[in-house]
Parts: sequence; C-alpha cells; structure tokens
Amino acid sequence: MLNIEHLEKISLDGTWRFQLLRSPREPLGRKWASIPVPSLWTMQEESNVFFDKPIYTNTQMPFEEQPPFVPEENPHGVYERDFDLPDGWMGKRIVLHLGGYESVAVVFINGVEVGLTKDSRLAAEFDVTRFVKRGNNVVRIDVTKWSDATFIEDQDQWWHGGITRSVKLFATNKVFIERFYTTAGLEKDCTTGTLDIRAHIASIDNISTHNYTLRASIEELPKVKAANLESTLKTFQSPKWTERAEELKARSDEYFHGKFWNGNMPADAKKAILENEPWPAGKIHLNTRIPKVKAWSAESPNLYTLHVELIDPDGNIVEVSQQKIGFRSVEVKGQDFLINGQPVMFYGVNRHDFNRYTGRALTREDMREDLLELKRWNFNAVRTSHYPNDAAFLDLCDELGFYVIGEANIESHAFIASICDDAKYLTAFVDRVGRMIQRDIHHPSAIMWSLGNESGAGTNHEAAAAFARSFDPSRPLHYEGGIRGNWMGSHSLTDVICPMYPAVTAIKEYATSAKADRPLIMCEYSHAMGNSNGTLAEYWEVIETTRGLQGGFIWEFWDHGPVQTMPDGSKRNAYGGDYGEKKHDGNFCCDGMVFPDRTAKPAMAEFKAIAAPANISAVKASTGSFKIFNKHFFKDLSEYEVSWTITRDGLIIDSGKVKLPKVAPRKTVAFKVSSKHLSKANGPGERFITFTIINIDSTPWAPAFTEVGWNQMALPSRALTIKSAKASDEYTNVLDDYGQIVLPRGVVAPTLTLWRAPTDNDRIGHMATKWNRWGLRDMDRTDCVVSQNRTSTKVTNTWQTSTGISIKHVQVITPVADGFRVKESVTLPKVLTDVARVGVNFELDGALTDVTWFGSGPHESYPDRKIARIHRFVSSVANQYIPYVRPQENGGHTAVRWFEVTDATGHGVRVQMGKPLQVSVTPNRAVDLADATHDVEVKACGNVVVHIDGAHRGVGTSSCGPDTLPKYKIKPGLHTWEWTLTSI
Ligand code: GAL
Ligand code: MG
Repeated sequence: MLNIEHLEKISLDGTWRFQLLRSPREPLGRKWASIPVPSLWTMQEESNVFFDKPIYTNTQMPFEEQPPFVPEENPHGVYERDFDLPDGWMGKRIVLHLGGYESVAVVFINGVEVGLTKDSRLAAEFDVTRFVKRGNNVVRIDVTKWSDATFIEDQDQWWHGGITRSVKLFATNKVFIERFYTTAGLEKDCTTGTLDIRAHIASIDNISTHNYTLRASIEELPKVKAANLESTLKTFQSPKWTERAEELKARSDEYFHGKFWNGNMPADAKKAILENEPWPAGKIHLNTRIPKVKAWSAESPNLYTLHVELIDPDGNIVEVSQQKIGFRSVEVKGQDFLINGQPVMFYGVNRHDFNRYTGRALTREDMREDLLELKRWNFNAVRTSHYPNDAAFLDLCDELGFYVIGEANIESHAFIASICDDAKYLTAFVDRVGRMIQRDIHHPSAIMWSLGNESGAGTNHEAAAAFARSFDPSRPLHYEGGIRGNWMGSHSLTDVICPMYPAVTAIKEYATSAKADRPLIMCEYSHAMGNSNGTLAEYWEVIETTRGLQGGFIWEFWDHGPVQTMPDGSKRNAYGGDYGEKKHDGNFCCDGMVFPDRTAKPAMAEFKAIAAPANISAVKASTGSFKIFNKHFFKDLSEYEVSWTITRDGLIIDSGKVKLPKVAPRKTVAFKVSSKHLSKANGPGERFITFTIINIDSTPWAPAFTEVGWNQMALPSRALTIKSAKASDEYTNVLDDYGQIVLPRGVVAPTLTLWRAPTDNDRIGHMATKWNRWGLRDMDRTDCVVSQNRTSTKVTNTWQTSTGISIKHVQVITPVADGFRVKESVTLPKVLTDVARVGVNFELDGALTDVTWFGSGPHESYPDRKIARIHRFVSSVANQYIPYVRPQENGGHTAVRWFEVTDATGHGVRVQMGKPLQVSVTPNRAVDLADATHDVEVKACGNVVVHIDGAHRGVGTSSCGPDTLPKYKIKPGLHTWEWTLTSI
C-alpha cells in the first residue's frame, strides 16, 4: 500500500484516558485512569485498574467456549483522548489509522460510532471526515479482548489485551490514491528490472477523478522513461444503452458479439469500448522495463526510491509519497526455489513480536535491534510467525537484507480440523491473507506469502490461496497445513514443502525421491527450548549436499519470558502459570535462540558457524595447502579478510594473514599458508591451524573486523605426557576408609553419575520419565571392594539406583607425579537403554574460582551441538553457568583434553583426560538445577561442581521435534574413560 508516512499526519500516541471493564456489558465508570498508547494493559504494573494479566497457552484456548462464543468475563478497555484538528485540515479527507489492537476494536469520534475492526495484526483505517469538527475532538476506542476472531488468533504465544501499535490521523486531498501496489521484478539477465504499478485513484463527495494524473519516478534512475511511469485518468459517463450513437453501437457490438474471440482487438475498438462500458474509474496500470539495475538480494540489499505524485487536472501536485523498491525475481522451478535465478539457502528463524517489558508493543528500534542481532549470527531469513508485523518491520528487512516469509494472522490450532471449513470464517481468511499482501506487496524482502499457521487445510484456505495467486502471481505460496503428514498434495495451497520438525532422514528421503516435485524449506525446525538445538549440523550437512533442500527456519528467535515483578519487589523471567493462569503451557514459550534479555544462547554459536559466508578446509594442512568455498550466491568474498593462527596446547605459536584470491560466488579457490610450524610438531601438545574470517568494514550490525566465520584443522602433533611417579616416590593411597578417592582441595569425593538435570527436551521428550523410573537421580554405593598391588589400587564398586538397579563400576588408580590416574569402567545393565551420562562427579573447594580448559569453547557445547574451536580458554567457574529460564543441565564442554581449577594464587588442581571428554566445571549441582523452576532461584552451591563424563547424551530437540540421533545416545554395556588429577 501507499506509505502514509509522507502524508500530513498527527500522532495520537501518548497518554490516553483509560478504563478497564470486566466485560463489554459493564457500564463505564466515572473514574478514568491513564495508559500509554501503544501499550498492552496486561503489561502494566498490577493495580485495581490493571487487573487483567497475560496468559500463556500453546494450542489450547484459554477458555472453554466453542467458536464463535467467548466468555462473559471478557476484559474490555475503553481508551479516550482529545485531539485538535489542524485548521488547514478542514476540507480534506481525514483518516484514522489504528495500527494494532487485541482483538476487536470499535472506534467512536465525538460520541458517534465510526466502525468496528478485527485482525489484530494489520492496521485498520477509518475515513472519519464526516465525524470530525473544527478544533477539539474526542476519539474513543473500545478494545475487547475476546471475540470470534480469537479462535483464529490461537498462536502459541501470550494472550494480551490493548492497543499494540501506533494510532494516527492523516489527511489527504478529497481525490486521493486509495490503493497502490508495486511489483518490481528482474529478468533472466539479472540486470533488467521490471516495474509494475497498479493503483486506484478514489474520491469522496462524488468528485470526479477525470484528468487526474499519477506520476511515478525512480530517484536513482532519473533516465527511466517518464512516459512509462505516468498515466492520466479519463472517466466517461457511459451513454444510455438504448441511445448510443450509431458508430459507438456498431463498435461495441463487434466486441459484444465475439468478433475478437481470438483476443486480437484493434486499438480503436478498445477505445470505443472504453467509452461505452461503465469502466471502473480510477484504475491505473503502469508497466515498464528498466535496463541496468542493481539486483536486490539479502546479500546485497540494493534499494531504489520510488516517488509517487498525484496531480490534479490543473497540474497541481495534491499528494506525494514514496516507497523503497528492489528489483529481484522469485520463482519455484521444479525442486528449486530461485531468487534471481539462484537456489539460495534460507538461514532462517521464526520471529514473534516480543519485548520483555512491553509484551507485543514494539518500537521500530526494538525491531531493528532484533534484526541486527540476527545478522550478527549470520541469519538471512525470517518467517513472520505467525502474523504480519508492523509495516516498519519489512522496511527494515528490505534495508538490512533478509528473505521474509510474510505470514497471515490465522491460526485456529485448537480447532485445527474445523474452522478452516467453516464458512463463518471464510471472509476472515481471505481478508487476512489479502490485506497482508496488499500492504506488503512492494517489499523485495517478502519472497513468499504464508496462509497462516496450524489451521488444518480447508476450503477457506483454498479461497485465500486463490486470492493470493490472482492478486500477486509474482510470489510462491507457503502453507505447512497443506502438507502436514503428507508431502505429496495441496499444490493449490503451497508451492514449497515446508514441514515443521521433520527428521533429517525424512527430508533427505523426500528430496532424493522421484516423487519430489517442490523445493523443501522447513518452516520450523531445531526447537530452541532451553539447552537444545542438537543435530543442527546434521540437518545442514544434508541440506548442503542435497538438491531441493534449501534450509529452514529455526523455532524460534526469542525466549518469551516477560519480566515479572514479585511481591517482594524482585524480578524474574516469567512463563506460563506465573500470572496465576489456570490453563497454561508452562515454559513452552521460552524456546528461542536468545534469552529474554536478547543475549544469545550458546546454540547461536553453532548456527553462526554453520551459516558462515565461507568455508575453509584443508587440501593438505601440513604443506600449507588449503581451499576456501564462497557460500554466497551473488557476491565475492572481497568484503572479508582471512587470517590464521597455529596453536600448540592451545597457545598461539604462529599467525598470519591469508592473501585471498578473488572467489566468485559458489566457487572454491585454493590458497597457501606458509609457516615453519605447519609440518613439524616442535614440542609436545596438540596443534591446530585456525582460520578466522572477518568483515573488513563496519556494518549496521557490527564494527569493522568482526569475525563472521572460522574453521579449524588439526596438524600433526605429539601427545602431552604426564610425568610418572618416581620409583623413589612413596606410593600414597588416595582412598579413604570407605574406598572413596580423597581429592586435593576436594569437598565431595568422586561418585558415579548417570543423570543430569533434565533439559526441557529430556523432560518433555520423556527421557527424564525413564530416568525417574530407573531411579538414576539417587544412586547409593552398596558395595566396595578394594584390592591393591605394587603399582595400582583397584576399587570395585556396586551402585544401586533408587529403584534397585545395580551397576558395576571399577576404578583402577595409579600414582603419577603430584597426583594419580583413574581408569574408570562402568558396565551399564541392559535395562539402562538411554541414560544421560556415564561419568564421575566431584566437588572442589569453592575458593578455586577460576577454570582454564583446553577443549571446545568458549561457549557451552554438547555431543550433538559441538561446533567450537579447540583452544585454551580461561573463565571463572561462576561464568560457566548458563541461565536457561527453567534451570537445567548446562555449562558442558565437549572434547576437553585437560582443565585446571585454580584459586586467586593460581594453585589448585589439574585434570588431564586420557581422550577428549565432555566436562563441566560449574557452581551448581544437578539436583539443585532440577529442583529450581526459574533462573533466579539458582544459587551457587559454594563448591566447584565437576563432571567428567566418559559418555554424555546429545541434547536433541524433542521438546518439539526429533530426539537426538542414535549415535548420540548412550548404549548399555561397558564404558571406559580415564582421568589424571595433579595438584598445581
Ligand atoms: C509449532 C508452532 C509454533 C510453536 C512451535 C513449538 O507447532 O507452529 O507456533 O508452537 O511449534 O514451540
Ligand atoms: Mg500452534
């Protein structure tokens, strides 16, 4: 639609008088409170006025009524304010624009009802010309929380009430641009742009639009032929049917009686017909081709500025506007989704409108910050799950470069099989899809339209799809509901196979099958709830190597944990149930890649590495021979610089910069690194070469020299050795009287552990149910036999779970200089088919506040989410804690070779593993994490809690999606590992 920002307007945002009633039937009181607009009443500090609080449900409705009925108790906000009409506005057409409200609004001006609107996520505009008067006016907006529309707004999110987006008034001439639709395209040569403008000039007070001219121009392309971008309306009074002039009747009859059945109508005949038919006045269609444009893509978001003018018959400009356009093409061809002819990858995320203080009332800055954060982690696509965002959101996506699936505000999840075929909702479906497309059609970032989410597939969808295809043939359609459970059908509803949470095997099977007829882009995958996103790498391995797979959209961007003030004044990140809701879905709303404060979860690092713009690998590392693959589809790598370091035992021993040749899009080029440290081991300690790819210039989201990607390769190495105990050393027994290992600086002796504080995936995926059944949380050592020979001590332990399963655990302890080595072997009985870990857990003195490790880092990693550099990292024990909103297992590192835990003087213990192992060194015990319900309840236990795991289960995504792969699960049978502890 036309951009109203360039029209004369006044903002009605600010403080409004406000009353919150318990139902629309309740009479208005005499006392007014106040509320900011936009804002949600559910997010105001609790008081007598603001009694209505947020409710979180996923699929279920928050009440029992059946559609279209809603509860009697139905919070109803009455908003009122005065405004002064500028004198100059008299004689103009005046429109009230209401950006967003939940879920139905009725507008009154000066006490007279103007109209009612539903669809909480698209602006409603009311022509209020007849209702306003000179000087002071009163506008009132009644917003009712529940309505028949609520049943198609059953998205998995918080239920709120209020006015979420700006309210404004704007003025136009009485003849005005009522509709304006731009489609900019790109021809096969990728340099010729096409521009198609459909507009409608309308008027009020019966004013003729005859001889009004619409003129467009492109600021950056002044040479584009003006004639092609201008059109003057001619309106005709159609003559009386029985009184047409002889010539006109004859020409008209030729057409009327089928003379031009083959479509070849001469121009003069066309003209005659125009004068004869009651043609809709006001319709304008402009179309042109423009040579040598710079194409738009998410990689290079080249935009142009389209100026629009409406000119009256005397040549006066009576309305001006502008919008940004970008030339690009979108096409689905067989199994390829092509943008500008290229099968691009969608490194996407699902994004809801969210702000932890304001709920869903966002500023442009909020939206921009979200997008900048996504850019920092190499995302290039957003699905506006599950409704259109504020119009500014797509402006930002155009500008910053994101591919967007624009989704209509339709989700009838609780009535997934019925509402889609219920004709009572037919117009709502068509309206919501249609109005979204009309508003957003000009955005180059919008590359598909989605018919909504989780609403089944029915006749109402068919109608909406038909509208979409007819109105905007330039974009493919997306609708998961069409192919849920069966990827073969629903060609009318979706041009892409867009499943949610498919298994890696399923997408590969589909794409390589002869039956595959559409590209597959996962609309949701890798559910980011808590410590999650396991097997992301496996998805991308398959995506990158299988034609027809083009990525997907992670569920989701943000943990929706609003800040809640507790009775004692403290704050916490809330989730379902925290506001006293009876029906709710707990912390299922906290399933994003960023925490409620928008800081990134560790899984972001995994994604960033996967979505890096280039990939470096070794041809032959020891001779300095490497290659780089440019993952871009449209640009070379000249905006990046690549440098390298060689490390030994995690310390840098050499470094340099790569002289990068020009690397064209999707091409691989070889390059050389020279260093004397490449081939020879030069001393003990594992060696790696690590490349880092940095942005040379600053971008809106990052300063210059920010890393965008990295790759690491192992070099020939010699192992680190641990000094054995001198023969002269007296053999010291490290066991106490109970056969437990006495650790230097130890507080709690090493015990066998098979359990972890359940992650959200473990809990919802029912792994934790099994662990409870097996009694893994509490294990007792029921037997211990110690035997000793000249060089070692053998401890044979029997452990029993709280439900009586016994496990054999043998430790062979041998002395080394300043410490001892433990060889662990555990035999898991057959019944333990899927445990969380097989490891030892001990606690050290809390004065050991620092941890240094040589292994994966710096971020947390788990066996199925382990893309991280092997390096030497330094941190505090306190910082190892990762504050998942609902506390759970956290702080692990894969592939740890050794670690040291030290006090302020640098003394403490060092542990070296026989082979790289999963290790965590954190301030929290697993049981405490498991028993806490919110992050704020987690308090450091005072000791350093160490886990050294011979095996650790992957995290998977089974809170909503597939569990981890079999190779990341722990099998029954023998598990062995080894660790050596020395005092330092
Ligand atoms: C999908 C749904 C999302 C969300 C997600 C789980 O089924 O489309 O809205 O509920 O699962 O978090
Ligand atoms: Mg849902």
